[in-house]
Amino acid sequence: MKYDFDKTVQRHGTNSYKWDGSDNPEMLPMWVADMDFRTSEPIIKALQERVSHGIFGYTRVPEAYYEAVTGWFSRRHGWNISKDWIIYTTGVVPALSAIIKALTAPGDKVLIQGPVYNCFYSSIRNNGCHVISNPLIYTGDTYKMDFEDLENRTADPEVKAMILCNPHNPAGRVWTEEELIRLGEICIKNGVTVISDEIHCELVFPEYRYIPFASISENFQKHSVTCVSASKSFNIAGLQIANIVCADEGLRKKIDKAININEVCDVNPFGVIATVAAYNESEEWLEQLIAYLKGNYDCMSEYCRKYLPDYPIAKLEGTYLVWMDCRKLHLASEELEERLKDEAALWLNAGSMYGPEGEGFMRWNIACPRSSLEQGLERFRRFIGQR
Ligand SMILES: Cc1ncc(COP(=O)(O)O)c(C=O)c1O
Repeated sequence: MKYDFDKTVQRHGTNSYKWDGSDNPEMLPMWVADMDFRTSEPIIKALQERVSHGIFGYTRVPEAYYEAVTGWFSRRHGWNISKDWIIYTTGVVPALSAIIKALTAPGDKVLIQGPVYNCFYSSIRNNGCHVISNPLIYTGDTYKMDFEDLENRTADPEVKAMILCNPHNPAGRVWTEEELIRLGEICIKNGVTVISDEIHCELVFPEYRYIPFASISENFQKHSVTCVSASKSFNIAGLQIANIVCADEGLRKKIDKAININEVCDVNPFGVIATVAAYNESEEWLEQLIAYLKGNYDCMSEYCRKYLPDYPIAKLEGTYLVWMDCRKLHLASEELEERLKDEAALWLNAGSMYGPEGEGFMRWNIACPRSSLEQGLERFRRFIGQR
């Protein structure tokens, strides 16, 4: 089946965070990380069948769910997960929060690599811990890890865990095996558990390869916890379901307890059904989506090279989130976000939302029909031209 990602789907009036968050009907939202595409037909069909039943009581998670998750990761990514390692919960952010609760005591330190997904900061702080950044190094068109700094920071005995973002939002990196091995060895040597957020793992362009951190070795598996979900890649984030994969039984018990303390142990019937249909029946859709997103990124790169040479974008290896260096404008990111909204009806995310390292940058969500992306780029160009 051929999917049509060029088709514009009206999202106004669906209580969409992204589309219904502005009073301006002309606003083009390219911020919140969900996609403007309909999900795969098998997912839609499975949900329709469930809706037509008409009873939506409490749900249990069936064997078929675990088989879908373990089957997918084994088939597609060569990572063999045992069913017992999986704890389901209502999202990756609730998962991260529970894992931090299980691994730390208030006052401990947790490492992140800024600029990085904003909820990492809040999850750490909400558990009474301190955020310590091992900033990524910006090289002009991409980011790399600073291993020397990582060595120094992990040597602090108060650092108990590190949240890795693989692939990385918003830097667009899909970490290589070599990078992951170096990071893992440093963390393990210093007794720092790696919490690997792999929510974007399916959205990787063909030249790159996603490597599940825990799949690298038994030792890496033992000293890490992974969070995954079909939510980003199959555009079902509103159905709120995610999995924690933890091979170590002792740690898993602690995480399970934290999930219960936080009262995020029950999922809804739609999340379960959609996840099964995603992993069992939607690979064809995903392949076409990746090709389309790559086309969008190529289109944006070309446009930026031609018309916006002063605002370079970071190389995108995975995700649909493009990171643009707007420092030539000499505006704080937040002010730029507001002005773009007010003056150009274009809504991007301020880079400073992802930590101080993101100041002066903006994040574009390009998971939209190409015609919308072109409109967004035109609006940005006009805004620049008027200054
Ligand atoms: C790296 C990362 N983790 C987690 C999330 C959100 O996960 P959830 O909606 O499952 O809580 C996002 C959303 O953008 C993300 O980019």
